[in-house]
Amino acid sequence: MYTKILSILLLYTFTSVHALDNGLALTPPLGWMSWQRFRCITDCVNYPNDCISDQLFRDTADRMAEDGYLEAGYEYLIIDDCWLANERDSDGRLQPNADRFPNGIKDLADYIHSKGLKFGIYEDIGTNTCAGYPGINGQYEIDANTFAEWGVDYIKVDGCYEDTEGMEDKYAQFGDYLNQTERPIVYSCSFPAYKGLEANYTAAVEICNLWRNYGDIQDQWDDVKNIANWFATNQGFLNKFAGPGHWNDPDMLIIGDYGLSYDESIAQMTIWTVMAAPLLMSVDLRKIEPEFRDILLNSDALSINQDVLGIPGLLAWNNGNVRIWTKPILPQVDDKHSYAFGIVNYENGGSPHVVEFTLDEFGLDNADGYTIKNVFEPSDPVTVSVTEPIRISVNPSGAALLQVNPVAPSHATSLL
Ligand SMILES: *[C@@H]1O[C@H](CO)[C@@H](O)[C@H](O)[C@H]1NC(C)=O
Ligand SMILES: *[C@@H]1O[C@H](CO)[C@@H](O)[C@H](O)[C@H]1NC(C)=O
Repeated sequence: MYTKILSILLLYTFTSVHALDNGLALTPPLGWMSWQRFRCITDCVNYPNDCISDQLFRDTADRMAEDGYLEAGYEYLIIDDCWLANERDSDGRLQPNADRFPNGIKDLADYIHSKGLKFGIYEDIGTNTCAGYPGINGQYEIDANTFAEWGVDYIKVDGCYEDTEGMEDKYAQFGDYLNQTERPIVYSCSFPAYKGLEANYTAAVEICNLWRNYGDIQDQWDDVKNIANWFATNQGFLNKFAGPGHWNDPDMLIIGDYGLSYDESIAQMTIWTVMAAPLLMSVDLRKIEPEFRDILLNSDALSINQDVLGIPGLLAWNNGNVRIWTKPILPQVDDKHSYAFGIVNYENGGSPHVVEFTLDEFGLDNADGYTIKNVFEPSDPVTVSVTEPIRISVNPSGAALLQVNPVAPSHATSLL
């Protein structure tokens, strides 16, 4: 039932010789992406506030810059599918839908940059995007150059309408042309999501800053659990590929949308934080309720997610309804790491469940004990020895995120 952290630390050893070396995404990317909330709404007559348009992204840039998101670290504003015109222009270049993006993409990117944000966009390696717009389809050089000229800082390249056979090579070729533009561009690939565990993950590390591994998230708690279960089931394989500059991506946060309760939102934030997942919000920032905004802006959660060691967390305890993910983080005292513990209660409904465990059951062994901070229930941190039982109440379909720091010896040996 328990997996001791000290023994599974071995799993964290990442030994790739070659990783993409563009200096980007050294911690998991933080930002906002349009897909999950705004999908492919192109009808601006009936949905003037929700359609994929220049106005939506300017409004979102304003909210990110003015409502604390940028300050908290959410820097990438990423347009997903459905920005393109149905045809390339007469020079064979990609162009946006002229009605919905009347000022062009460069002008929108300039606006986003003027707010201190970074700009991301979406394309597809195949003949068409998933929604049917023109794909890159072999036009690697001209498209890479177009994106660089527009000021793109992040590109998500999907994998619809392309043979899975040899997909890695196509992503590699486009990545080479991105590199040749000399503009630093975070490269998000999708071939692992299309090829499953047969995908060449060594190639993903070499080519991409992050990659989608699994299906699209839908706006419901069952999907959060399903994705978390898939990553946990395959953690022994997946986690060794993730680290600074190259990340597994379980897809967007759905916090603040229609499908998750407050407790379920804390649970998604907890699991994604501890997995060292990219945190890409997909919510209407003009309308988000303050309690959901506070979850997204929780500075302790964000600092755990952004820990510079970049070690993805592991499911270390699975007791059916109660599952505990753990992630080594800084600071360290001598050779003792700090840890994040994400304790998730999968039970639907009913009443809160009291979870009890000791830190030594997870292999923590700092002689002076640890201080524990309950991230989403702020109170003074408590100090425990590794054998003292910790009891914590976790709401149904909810979670607790704990930050567990080793206590430094108070009796430092004097050399005088
Ligand atoms: C291009 O690749 C080289 C070699 O890996 C790397 O040093 C450089 O930072 C890359 N440049 C960009 C803009 O990605
Ligand atoms: C996977 O990719 C790596 C790095 O590009 C390559 O060396 C290796 O041959 C590939 N493996 C397979 C089975 O194609």
